[in-house]
Amino acid sequence: MDHYLECIGCGAHYSSSEIVYVCKSCGDLLEVRYDYDSLRESVDAFLWRVRPLSVWRYEELLPLDRGSVKVSLGEGGTSLHRSIRLAESLGLKRLHVKNEGENPTGSFKDRGMTVGVSKAVEIGAEKVACASTGNTSASLAAYAARAGLECVVVIPSGKVALGKLAQAVVYGARVLQLEGNFDDALRAVVELAQSKIGLYLLNSINPYRLEGQKTLAYEVWDQLGGKVPDTVIVPVGNAGNIAAIWKGFQDLNQLGLISDLPKMIGIQAERASPIAEAFRRGLSRIDPVPNPETVATAIRIGSPASWKKALRAVRSSKGLIETVTDEEILESQKLLARLEGIFVEPASAASIAGLKKLVEVGAVSREEDVICVTTGHGLKDPEVVGRACEKPITVCVDQNSIKKALGLNS
Ligand code: F0G
Repeated sequence: MDHYLECIGCGAHYSSSEIVYVCKSCGDLLEVRYDYDSLRESVDAFLWRVRPLSVWRYEELLPLDRGSVKVSLGEGGTSLHRSIRLAESLGLKRLHVKNEGENPTGSFKDRGMTVGVSKAVEIGAEKVACASTGNTSASLAAYAARAGLECVVVIPSGKVALGKLAQAVVYGARVLQLEGNFDDALRAVVELAQSKIGLYLLNSINPYRLEGQKTLAYEVWDQLGGKVPDTVIVPVGNAGNIAAIWKGFQDLNQLGLISDLPKMIGIQAERASPIAEAFRRGLSRIDPVPNPETVATAIRIGSPASWKKALRAVRSSKGLIETVTDEEILESQKLLARLEGIFVEPASAASIAGLKKLVEVGAVSREEDVICVTTGHGLKDPEVVGRACEKPITVCVDQNSIKKALGLNS
């Protein structure tokens, strides 16, 4: 599909054949733009419905040249679970959970990587790289392996959940554990990619990746039978995903497929929440948090790269950004698992914790049709469950011992 890149700060344009991550004149973030008039003619929503629910169902709205190879592992098409018991416990009429843990490597990153790595192949890149709190590296490593590309990932030492680290390693990425946090890792890898050593950068400042992630909005619209929810709640770390999902809804609007737009609500962990703080104070800039900390290691980020896009998404959708504590996150992880049978990692549970808090203070009403996006699978970080839940009971092999442990009289 014909497209170009546009700077969100100064509006400069770049052709799709140029490898550029941020604006060369003002340094701001870039966004993929299409000719919506011609798209309106070529997009056929009925044709979409005969294709399987997946990222590539919507290929007319993705920035790859016709005939380019799609590096795919079957991403997207995740369940939208009507969550009746959880809705009831929170005091809501209608709640759905969009469970991104069902993606091939267990997180929403796969939506972005199928497009981003396909782009890397299209432009002839041989090596790809990213910084990561874990999921981006797991996903990039898998898609790079699928495409036969070399992969370098830079992660904060000792702060990546075990399951995610195992994924990056088994897929054959070169894993560098940096003695610093995610923000240091991102700075290092951006510098590396800009030093012209042939590394194609696939963090979410790469606007092609976000194009894949925007398909979550299309799927929700499709799964609700062509309706738009009132409210979409998303955990926020580096802040690319909330911006991508908002762009997806805006696309549908610009194509004349929907007339309403949802309210976008972002949730950050309390001690890693510079965007929520800027929102609360009505500022148009963030103050980075120097030493972010949270049990939700995926969103342990103090200087989010896409803060500007995220603030724009929540402000223009009349949404908001809220914070939650680690205790609220762990409590909500358990609640979602026990009421709905959905096991998500702590960062994902932030969306449920945020919803609970916002219903309690009246910022989300009982009548709203709400979608919570749960971004990653719980098995990625099993250690955290050991800390938050009851311990298993050890019993002897005899029936009496078992019955006693169960509180049954023998
Ligand atoms: N949830 C999970 C499970 C994540 O892994 C991330 C980000 C987010 C939410 C936040 O999304 O950054 O687009 O605002 N993980 C990145 C990583 C930073 O490296 O895996 P975001």
